[in-house]
Order: sequence, then C-alpha cells, then structure tokens
Amino acid sequence: MTDNLLLIDTAAGIRTIRINRPDKLNALNADTLDALDAAFAAADHDPEVRVVVLTGAGPKAFVAGADISEMNTLTPAQGRDFSLRGTRMMRRVEKLSKPVIAMVNGFALGGGLELAMCCHLRIAADTAKVGQPEINLGLIPGFGGSQRLLRLCGRAATLELCLTGAPINAERALQLGIVNRVVPAAELESAVMQLAGQLARAAPLALRGMLDCVNIGGECGIEEGLEYESAQFGLMFATEDMREGTSAFLEKRKPTFAGK
Ligand code: COA
Repeated sequence: MTDNLLLIDTAAGIRTIRINRPDKLNALNADTLDALDAAFAAADHDPEVRVVVLTGAGPKAFVAGADISEMNTLTPAQGRDFSLRGTRMMRRVEKLSKPVIAMVNGFALGGGLELAMCCHLRIAADTAKVGQPEINLGLIPGFGGSQRLLRLCGRAATLELCLTGAPINAERALQLGIVNRVVPAAELESAVMQLAGQLARAAPLALRGMLDCVNIGGECGIEEGLEYESAQFGLMFATEDMREGTSAFLEKRKPTFAGK
C-alpha cells in the first residue's frame, strides 16, 4: 500500500518522498496520512538521509487537501480522529531532526498547505496556488492550518485566507512569507535539488541543533529560548564536525562533515 501511495527514493543523502495520487491531485486520505507518518519516521532514523524533499506526483498538485470523499460521511468522533491522525503526522514532519523542503509543484490547498507549512523550507513553482479553502466546504482547517498560518504570517493574512477560502498565487504567498522562494515551474526541481544538496553537505548535528532552537524557541519565552540556544551552542563543541568545520576554515579547504 505504502509503495503505491508514496514514491520514495534516496540519492546522495537526499530522500525524496512524492505523494502519488495524481488522479486525485494527491488528496490526503487516511492511508496516505499513515504512509507519510511511516515514511518520515523512517527518514528520521536512517543515517544515510541528511535532508528530505516532499512533493506531489503529476503536473498539477502538491496536495489539493484532505480527501473530501473520505470526510463526507465522518461522524464527529471520526472527524476528530482524522484530524488527530493528520496533526500527529504533520507534527512529526515539523519536529524532524533533519531539514524538510516542500517542493510546491502546484496546488497546495487545505491539508496541502498545512503539510507544506510543517516543512522547514518551501520552494514554490510560479504556477503554484495555495490556500485554506475549507470554509467553502462548511469546514475549518483541521491539521493545524489556523495555528501555523497565524505564526507564519500573522492575523490579517490568516483571517483573509481562512475566512474567504480564496487561493492566492505563488508571488502573493512569497509576499506574505508563506513560501521562501518562487521559481519558474521548469526550474523548480533543479532549484530544490540544489538547495537540498547544499543541506545534505552541511553538518547534520548543527542542522539538528538549529531546527531544535527554532522549534523550541518558537514556543517559549525569549529567556528560555536564549538559554536553549546557548546550551545547544555549547553542545556543538562536543562534535567532530565542529572541529572539522573550524579547521577547514583555518586550513583554507572545504570541510567534510560526518555527522559525528
Ligand atoms: N479530495 C478528494 N478529491 C479531490 C480533492 C480533494 N481535496 N481535490 C481534487 N480531488 C479530485 C477531484 O474530485 C477529481 O476527481 P475525479 O476526476 O474522480 O472527479 C480529481 O481530483 C481532479 O480534480 P478536479 O477538480 O477535476 O481538477 P480541477 O483542475 O478542475 O480543479 C482544484 C482543481 C484544486 C481547484 C479542485 O480540485 C478543488 O477545488 N479541490 C478541492 C480543494 C479543497 O477544497 N481542499 C481542501 C479540502 S479540506
């Protein structure tokens, strides 16, 4: 099941996870949520994986949302379970110990935008459209969309997107800080792979420390956040990678980081 719902490959430390329901614009049904949860857990624990790229199969969509046909008949208890299932998986993505890049190759709507927002970096094709259209279905976001959008781009844009349900184009998403970069659709894959390659060559333990600082610091006060950063900074001096990085600089050569 997992093999069909996701296409997964690994090259040079980059694991690419491609959601593979192109005929349904990669809509997230319960099985796909579970497959993603397992795929991200595996990527987290695999020492060969240094960075993850997440995208959607086919030319049109990253993910066009949670699967509406599956939601249509849910009871309140089942709706809550479905929400928790997606939220748990997305929290795993957000807290992964390795950087995750969303390659937003088309529609990222509803659960699709929620999933992209859990990734650490988002690179969008200029043809992409993003939004939270749940209101048009008599719903609200259920995989953390209201909360992550609020933290990413503030009240005004969150309320505009969630109350109107209207999608916005990639340029506007860039203006609002929802995506990091917009590139021509034909250059998306190479731009993302170049960035992924750069991260795959970086010091893994420093990347992890940095992700932890942002994850923890985003959820606590400035004093605790600064304390946490200092503690992480200190920990870096226990790594071989730190000795290698600083030595390489002093010896005017490129470093090679082993993740130790
Ligand atoms: N859940 C289930 N199926 C979906 C889906 C979703 N979120 N989004 C698209 N699909 C399916 C369509 O039902 C259609 O299936 P069919 O060929 O069996 O009828 C197929 O994917 C292609 O979608 P279609 O609507 O024909 O493509 P389009 O290019 O005309 O429109 C969208 C694209 C994204 C504008 C449109 O599909 C859409 O509005 N999707 C729902 C977006 C949404 O509300 N997401 C939030 C869900 S909470």
